[in-house]
Amino acid sequence: MIDMKYMLMKSIVVLAAMLIGMPSSFAESKLTAEQAENGKPIYEKLCIGCHGERGKGDGAAANFLRPRPRNFKIARYKFTYTMYGKLPKDSTIFNAIAVGLPGTSMPGWEDTLTDDQIWDVVAYIKTLSRKFTRAEKKKRYPKPIEIVDVPKEWTGEDIKQGYELFKKNCVKCHGVTGLGSGSTAVALKHDLGDRIWPRNLTRGWVYRGGNEPKDIFRTIATGITGTPMPAHLETMKPEDIWKIVGFVNSIVKREPPRVSEVIISRYVEGGLPKRPTDKKWDELPLEYIPLVSQIVEGNRWFTTTLESIYVRSFYNNDYISILVEYDDPSQSPLETPIEMFPENEPDSFAIQLPTIIPTGMEKPYFLNGDDDAPVNLWKWTNNTNGNGADALLGKGITNAVLMDESSQNITVKSVYDNGRWKIMFTRKLKVGQESNLDFEVGKYIPIAFNAWDGNNGEKNEQRAISIWYWLLLDSPSSMNVYLFPLIIGLMIAGGEVWLIFKAKKG
Ligand code: HEC
Ligand code: HEC
Repeated sequence: MIDMKYMLMKSIVVLAAMLIGMPSSFAESKLTAEQAENGKPIYEKLCIGCHGERGKGDGAAANFLRPRPRNFKIARYKFTYTMYGKLPKDSTIFNAIAVGLPGTSMPGWEDTLTDDQIWDVVAYIKTLSRKFTRAEKKKRYPKPIEIVDVPKEWTGEDIKQGYELFKKNCVKCHGVTGLGSGSTAVALKHDLGDRIWPRNLTRGWVYRGGNEPKDIFRTIATGITGTPMPAHLETMKPEDIWKIVGFVNSIVKREPPRVSEVIISRYVEGGLPKRPTDKKWDELPLEYIPLVSQIVEGNRWFTTTLESIYVRSFYNNDYISILVEYDDPSQSPLETPIEMFPENEPDSFAIQLPTIIPTGMEKPYFLNGDDDAPVNLWKWTNNTNGNGADALLGKGITNAVLMDESSQNITVKSVYDNGRWKIMFTRKLKVGQESNLDFEVGKYIPIAFNAWDGNNGEKNEQRAISIWYWLLLDSPSSMNVYLFPLIIGLMIAGGEVWLIFKAKKG
């Protein structure tokens, strides 16, 4: 009798607990076998090419992709609200499929699939791992973390304390500037063996798991399963994690910069900046140019690490200087080569220009020109004293040869500082040599870029490239190109003021 009463009490308590509303993940997944059935053909149509027939992350495209597509069989999901190593909630998987994972090849599907269809695919990919069935059978659902007390803002002091905590906990991977150049960064690996780089924390637009403060909190708290990025909630107080979030929030840019079609070289009277770190460079805006992997010709290359560059340029009556800078998590060659890349190639960078300024819009072939329209390559390599660049004549990506002695007239100064290269190329405006470009003021000159990350095994055709952009030497006599838009703006604003004034009067 007593037993019965006890049993009844117990089930009432359990029932009440369920009704009061436990976190949804404690409830059994609401997805059904029928949904999984419906999800299968969607998966086979849209996902199989990357994730593979049985979801082992081994689709036809997988070998070309870094990071690799997720292996659904081992079910090590990365961007979850559950702690490192634990299964994710259904809604987390839904979200990754709907929105995609920025900065990777995983697209978002919310424009292609309805919510119901996405839930169907979630149901299906869960059937690819026995871990979910086992968890369901045992009614063991990992507990998601709670994200509460989100600060509305951070004081300077919070951010300072956040940086102190960052130094203790994060710099060995993410580096003192957050650009991903920590001392251990070059040797990090994913559980499945691939190399993995710590995120460049300034590039919020490639955060996979969201770049809002609460997302960053979650990443730091739970860690990223399968990667060296550890969970911090077990070792740190939430308020300390929030301070680190405050620091990351202070360096993250959420939108990618606008791509510059035209790089304006600005005229200066007198001397050009002497060094890549010269303050004078700050007078110019950073022109942003994205890089892509060279997957067109020769030994194609799918896994570049360098994502983009910034370019600025000054010229005077005799010389032009072009400053290129970019984030690179390691300066190569390394002092101690790593096991993965024993060749320890040097970093290298080339500016590409036509040998003569084309008339009209025609440009040489973008991969180092061809016989009909060769290109000049100014190629710097990080194995000299950092003072020179080779002048090469390019007639194709596997056909770039050193020009003669008299054409070797490019000086370079380079510095590497905690995850960022700054490389300054300087040459005479006019050299009067056949096959060597003479710059002209006011003309649109095609310009393109090639970059080799030595410590990513890049050499020869295996490199990051850009398409053609334009370089324009701003005419010193005409109206300053920077002032021009400003003046137009003022005229429009002036006109509006006048209209308002008139309307008020009338
Ligand atoms: C072009 C290749 C590609 C296609 C197509 C693709 N994925 Fe992915 N997917 C990836 C890559 C790469 C990753 C891993 C990214 C990472 O590790 O940061 C990934 C990761 C995922 C994840 C893991 C999210 C996490 O938090 O760990 C899910 C879920 C997923 N994909 C579902 C799908 C579904 C469903 C489809 C089809 C509707 C699909 N993917 C199609 C490349 C692809
Ligand atoms: C042992 C090395 C290591 C440490 C320590 C580490 N991280 Fe990471 N972190 C990584 C790696 C590797 C990735 C990239 C994971 C990936 O691409 O899947 C990463 C990714 C991230 C991301 C990007 C998440 C996203 O959505 O894309 C953030 C933010 C981040 N880390 C912040 C931190 C902060 C803050 C700390 C210190 C509290 C820290 N990390 C400590 C290695 C580390």
